[in-house]
Amino acid sequence: MSPVIDVHTHYVPRGWPVLGEGTDAPRLRIDSVREATIMVGSREFRRIFSDCWDHEVRLSDMANDAIDAQVVSPTPVFFSYDQTPAKGLEIAKIFNDLALDICEPAKGRLLPFCQVPLQDPELACAELDRCLRAGHLGVEIGNHVGDRDLDDEGIVMFLQHCAEVGAPVFVHPWDMPTSPRLDRWMSQWLTGMPAETHLSLLAVILGGVFDKVPDSLKICFAHGGGSFAFWLGRLENAWHERQDVVGVSAKPPSEYIGRFSVDTVVFNPPSLRLLVDVLGVDNVMLGSDYPYPLGERPVGHVVRKADFLSAPDRAQLLGGNAAKFLSLPSPQAA
Ligand code: CO
Repeated sequence: MSPVIDVHTHYVPRGWPVLGEGTDAPRLRIDSVREATIMVGSREFRRIFSDCWDHEVRLSDMANDAIDAQVVSPTPVFFSYDQTPAKGLEIAKIFNDLALDICEPAKGRLLPFCQVPLQDPELACAELDRCLRAGHLGVEIGNHVGDRDLDDEGIVMFLQHCAEVGAPVFVHPWDMPTSPRLDRWMSQWLTGMPAETHLSLLAVILGGVFDKVPDSLKICFAHGGGSFAFWLGRLENAWHERQDVVGVSAKPPSEYIGRFSVDTVVFNPPSLRLLVDVLGVDNVMLGSDYPYPLGERPVGHVVRKADFLSAPDRAQLLGGNAAKFLSLPSPQAA
């Protein structure tokens, strides 16, 4: 039996130098030993707690939820793709090194993923290489860099590099469009994030990214891949009926199923079933969005209670697929 691995969690380090003085670069307001607030300019972006940075709190929560390991990824508000490349790199380095400090006491159980200055793909490749040498297992990227989607030439170059060096990539929506209509009811999170992720999957499929990167690329999309699984049929129909508009990919969209994974943070069994039916049991991995309030607790609840999964399929979702994604040694070989 593989260890149970949660591929979608976030960290925030408790202390870092003030970055981007006088800009809207995020900073942390420390409120107490166990509480802090992420500030963007003068705006309170999110109240956070010590589970963001304290390995003991995380390990205790993992024990309660029967989770063996977590992929510990950056919190997207810190990606800093809008900063100059040099500033973005500086911020990435500070956060990446602090992530190692958080994970080090729980080696093998807290598995760090780095962030990279994706606004400059060459710097991004170099920072990824540095992080892999230092102990990071992979990289989390935002689903776009300003107006550049994942089919941008520079980002494709970065993804080719990830495939070459065997670094798994976790794609997280961020920097959602805003408007008065999207600024209520947490709509940026509740409709914006799933739509952004859907758009990113369109970019990698219709933009021909999967035709340009080797199939060794391991790439996973957050939040069940957003709206993608539900609308694959609409996409497939459009590709065949309006290829004059959408036909950049060499093959119809459904033929790229298997080239990417998604996580399980969809909260109800019928949605999870759709993911397994449409994307395949090999391509769905446990994720929770821990420790944030829109995450699943207890972690793995829906996968564990889903009665349509056979025991071997459940084991794959809980950890077998993630072990492959992360290139962890198989339990038999260990
Ligand atoms: Co998340």
